[in-house]
Amino acid sequence: MELIPILPHFQAALNLTSAVLLVAGLRAIRRGDAHTHRKRMAGAVLVSAVFLVSYLIYHAAVGNVKFAGTGWIRPVYFTILITHVGLAVVSLPLIFLTLRRAPWNLLESTCPPHRRIARFTLPVWLYVSISGLVVYALAFHIHPPAP
Ligand code: HEM
Repeated sequence: MELIPILPHFQAALNLTSAVLLVAGLRAIRRGDAHTHRKRMAGAVLVSAVFLVSYLIYHAAVGNVKFAGTGWIRPVYFTILITHVGLAVVSLPLIFLTLRRAPWNLLESTCPPHRRIARFTLPVWLYVSISGLVVYALAFHIHPPAP
C-alpha cells in the first residue's frame, strides 16, 4: 500500500486531535487543573510536530495540490489556505515562547508571562488546526481532485 496518498487523511486526523487537545487544555486551566493543562498542551505540541513532519514529506513528494473547485469557492478556498499557512508560520515562534514561559514544575499556580503570550498563541493555533480541516474537506472531499 502506498503511504503518500494516505497522508492528507492522516494530517486531518492530527489537526482534529490538536484542536480537541487545545480546547480540552483550555478547559482544564479554566477550572484550575494545571497538571491536566500541561499534559494536554504537551500532547497538542507533539501531535502538531508529527503533523509538520508529515506535511513536509507530503509536499516534498507531490508538490502543490491543484484545487479542483470552480467559481466563487476558489477565492474562499485560497483565502482560507493563505491565512492557514501564514498563521501556521506565525504560530511556531508563539508556541515556542509560550512553552519557554510555561511554569513546567507547577510550583507556582500563576504565571503572568505565560498567560499573556498564551492568550495570543491559543486562538492562532486553534485557527490553524480548524482551517486545516476546512482546507482538507474542500480539497479532498467537497471538490476532490480528478482521479
Ligand atoms: C504551547 C502550549 C500552551 C498553551 C497554548 C497554553 C495556553 C494557556 C492559556 C490560554 C492560559 C490562560 C487561561 C486563561 O487565562 O483563562 C494558560 C495558563 C496557564 N498555563 Fe498554559 N499553555 C500551554 C502550555 C503550558 C504548559 C506546558 C504548562 C506547564 C505546566 C502550562 C501552565 C499554565 C498555568 C499554570 C497557567 C495559569 C497561569 C496564570 O493563571 O497565571 N501551560 N495557558
